[in-house]
This record gives sequence, C-alpha cells and structure tokens, in this order.
Amino acid sequence: QLVTDYYFNKEDYDTQDGGYVPLEEPNTPPQQLKIPEILTPDKETDTDMYYTVVSQTGETQLLPGKKTKTWGYNASLLGKTIIFKNGKHIHITLKNELPELTTYHWHGAIIPGVADGGCHTPVYPGESRQIDFNLNQPAATLWMHAHPCPSTAEQVWHGLATAVVVQDAEEAQLPLPRNYGVDDIPLILQDRRFHEDNQWDYNADYDPDGVMGPTPMINGTINPYFDVTTQKVRFRILDGANRREWRLHFSDDLKFTQIAGDNSLLPHPVDYTKLLIGCAERMEIVVDFGQYHPGDEVVLYSDDTPIVHFRIHEFAKDDSKIPETLTTTLPDPKVTPEAPIRKVVMSGMDESVAINGKKFDMSRIDTKTKLNNVEYWDVTNSNDMDGGMLHPYHMHGCVFKVISRNGKEPNPNELGLKDTIEVEPGETVRLKVWFPCIGVFMYHCHIIEHEDGGMMLQLEVTDPKHPNELPQPLMDHH
Ligand code: C2O
Ligand code: CU
Ligand code: CU
Repeated sequence: QLVTDYYFNKEDYDTQDGGYVPLEEPNTPPQQLKIPEILTPDKETDTDMYYTVVSQTGETQLLPGKKTKTWGYNASLLGKTIIFKNGKHIHITLKNELPELTTYHWHGAIIPGVADGGCHTPVYPGESRQIDFNLNQPAATLWMHAHPCPSTAEQVWHGLATAVVVQDAEEAQLPLPRNYGVDDIPLILQDRRFHEDNQWDYNADYDPDGVMGPTPMINGTINPYFDVTTQKVRFRILDGANRREWRLHFSDDLKFTQIAGDNSLLPHPVDYTKLLIGCAERMEIVVDFGQYHPGDEVVLYSDDTPIVHFRIHEFAKDDSKIPETLTTTLPDPKVTPEAPIRKVVMSGMDESVAINGKKFDMSRIDTKTKLNNVEYWDVTNSNDMDGGMLHPYHMHGCVFKVISRNGKEPNPNELGLKDTIEVEPGETVRLKVWFPCIGVFMYHCHIIEHEDGGMMLQLEVTDPKHPNELPQPLMDHH
C-alpha cells in the first residue's frame, strides 16, 4: 500500500507553536555526510560483548572558521554506533569525562532499571560505572542519550546522543541492505542555532516548549551530501532533536518503503511518499534510486528545506524485492486478567506541562506494577490550552504495541513494537504494554524540555516472587 500523507493534523504541527523556528538551508559549502564509526567492542565471545563508552568534551569543525565546542560518546560530537547482538550478555563500562554528572540511557533497550540509565544512576565527573544485562529483543535501531534530570535537554543539545543497532538472526536472513556506511546508513536528525564564533548557546535559545535552531544538522554534518553507490539504500532515521518534528519527503515525490519502527521490523513493509517522525522515534526506510543516473541529485526535505543531498553514482542493478512479510516472531502477549487500565493524561504547554496533573518527583513512585504484567495504557493529550501540540510519549523498561488511536486502527507503520508515539491534541492512544524487567523507570513526553520541565512520572516494576527485594534504590547517593 502507498501512503501519501503525514497522518497528523496540520494544526497540531510544531510550526503552529509561537516559538517555532523554521529550518533554513545552510549557505555553507556542502560537506560529505558523516557516518559515525562503529564502536569496537573491548572483547567479544560467543556469549558476551564488552564495551567502554566515554562521554567527553571536544571541538568539532561544523562550519568554516572556528570549531564548535561539542560533547560526544567516544567522539567529539554524538558518538560511535554501538552494536548489540540479540541473545548476548552485554557488559558496559560507562566513563564520565565531562565537567558534570551524566547518565547513559539506552532508549528502547528492554533492560532492568539499574542498567537503563535514567536519572537514578548518575555517573559523577571523573568516575565510571559498570552495567551488564542480557539482551533479548528483536533487530531494531535504538539510541543512547544522556538523561540526568533536569538537564537531559541541555546535555543532548551539547551532543550526547548516539545510534545503537540491535542485530538478530531473523533480520540477518532478509534481503535488505546491511553494509554499514555503504547502503545501511544512520540518519540522526537534529537542529541547532549557531551563535558568535560558531558556538551553541543553550541558555540563549531556551524555550520551555522545546529548543529549536534553524540549521539542520544530520549526523553532526551541516549541509550534507551522500554519495549513492548502490541502487538501494537503507536509512535508519532517528529524530534526535530536542523538540522538532520532521516532515520528510524526497524530490520527485520519490516513493520509499518503511521496514522498521522504534523497536522492531514492521510485520509488513509500507510504501510512503511522506513521513512525519517525532522526537526520539526511529524509522528505517529503504530507498530505491533505480530510476536515477550518475550525476543526478535526489534531495531529502523536511517541509521545504533540503536536509540531505544524494549524489547518484554508477551502481549495479539490484532486482531484490523487499519481502511482503518482514517478521513473524513479534511477541503479542495476552492482557493480564484483572490488570487495571492505566490512564496517562498529558496536559499543558510551556512551564505548565504535567502528566495526570503532576510534575516529576524523583522520590515519588506514581505507578506500581509486576514483572511480566501485560496492561492497557490509555495515553491522552488533553489539549487543554490553546494552540495544542503533538506530544511524543515515551516509556522506559517495557515494550508496547499500539492498539488504537481514538478507537480506530493505528497507522500502518506502527504495527511493530514501539517505545515512543506521537499523540495529537484530543487523542487517546491505547497501548498494550508489558514489563519484562524489574526496576524504576520513567515515562514522559520526549520533547526534552517538557521532560525536564516535569512532564514525566515514575513506574516501579517488582517481581512478586521476591516481593521484599526493592528493584533499585530511588537515588544512588554519592
Ligand atoms: Cu529517550 Cu527517558 O528517554
Ligand atoms: Cu528512553
Ligand atoms: Cu510534550
């Protein structure tokens, strides 16, 4: 099926916001799109993988002239792509070389609270922390970002975000592009404003409804081009912006195919000419450049602003077809009898944002549930102030499926496993949520300034077989 609209109502786009900053095409020289290197494991065995992730300060040449002061993971800006293999036991040393405390949140990883990296597990400057977990989840594009509340937004703005790829045996069998850096490309979409001497100034740009900048920054590249050397290219798109939604489309209304969303492949691929991706969501697409010739250029736009230029080179003909069915192994557990139906109401704008009328308090647990419970969660955007907006709702420590939107079928690209969804004003999205891990987890709006502004609550998952075992301390005091 071919879908040619964005699903969401125009009146709810971020463009309607008073503080909206339109994207502008950079007038600096084109730069080759940076492809983050793959992080080399310290060690890998048949059963285990070992990594060291270092958060560090640095300087990055983004514009001609002065370098920009940036932060990154094992890199000066953003980070190296981290590969997790499904079924392995993963050990990570988290090192903090920043001047302030940070955390390392594995967004989309289904792992216990002690490893999840929410604000409960800080790593202080000059120190490190060890985590380890069993990874049991399907192939997907996840990400990792800083999450020390309430400075998540500022640390992500400095550059603390990186792609994480989960590989599994089922996906490895499919005829899909997976030659990293050649035809399998992460696209981390962000926006920034450059101030004097090419520097970023988070405080100067602060907006409680989310910080934006006019300059698109893709994989930490300003005005990027990518050399297309294969007929088909897979893009792992991540909206890594603090606030911006991206309304994506190609020149010539080129059709493309979405194969995966947040936490898994889609059961079936969906063809699009337009795609809206919200904060923290991931969408994998395959683009067939077969109709183009060497020397042609294809452009990816968000609204009317070019964000990546694709330079077509010679490539071999590729007749491979994307299979009609991509995965048959997605879990779909039955709702636990007598489980309560949870209600989450996101309300307000600016400083008044709240969930269920409350603001985040790290010393308060808002919802308690049991390990492996399967529950309906009804997530509402109450639109109780004028100029409603889309709120991207995200939960840690669980997996969910979208059951319905205002009682109607979900969109065809949200039929796989998700961890973040856009919710429109006046809309209630029913999720089926399950909890495979114990711990204290957050659930929140992923406009990061809303999250830091308190649009976030806490959930505790305990194991009834060990009822006295607290899953983790609420705060790991120094
Ligand atoms: Cu990207 Cu609380 O998460
Ligand atoms: Cu998360
Ligand atoms: Cu929000």
